[in-house]
Amino acid sequence: MTQAAAPTAMPSVLFVCLGNICRSPLAEAALRQLAAARGLSVRVDSAGTGDWHVGGAPDPRAQAEARRRGTDISKYRARQVSAADFHDFDHVVALDARNLSDLAAIRPADASARLSLLLDHVPGFEGQGVIDPYFGDEHGFAATWDDVHSGAEGIVALLTAAPTKA
Ligand code: 4NP
Repeated sequence: MTQAAAPTAMPSVLFVCLGNICRSPLAEAALRQLAAARGLSVRVDSAGTGDWHVGGAPDPRAQAEARRRGTDISKYRARQVSAADFHDFDHVVALDARNLSDLAAIRPADASARLSLLLDHVPGFEGQGVIDPYFGDEHGFAATWDDVHSGAEGIVALLTAAPTKA
């Protein structure tokens, strides 16, 4: 008798930066855009380690860059990451090394989420952070999009890779 394959739950990814108004919303948008284009079902969200911008829309420069790249992030609202997110998501992905260490500090010991650095998913860029464009001019946001889009490509590769045998 053949057995039906076990239903696989939809994977989930949470991107985390400092303010949740520049880098992580763009990472969220890039992964949503790639997943839609490839017919990949994935739950995507973003958050910040800080609480300064909670409830606020993405930085206008991030909104403009997203629009240039064909996606609308104007309805996104910032929120702060919490320990519960480590139970709610399969992957918690930090945008830079500071975000990664801040996340490691609040990660519950029994958390199921895999914690990683976004550019660790991009061959040749392992260990690098996505530069914070907040204090620069609008040109920095084009580079941010390029970086988070590469990272999102790496996340898609991770989610679509054949499972390795234990
Ligand atoms: P993000 O950028 O972490 O990419 O959202 C920042 C946004 C706000 C601040 C710092 C970084 N801030 O200091 O308010």
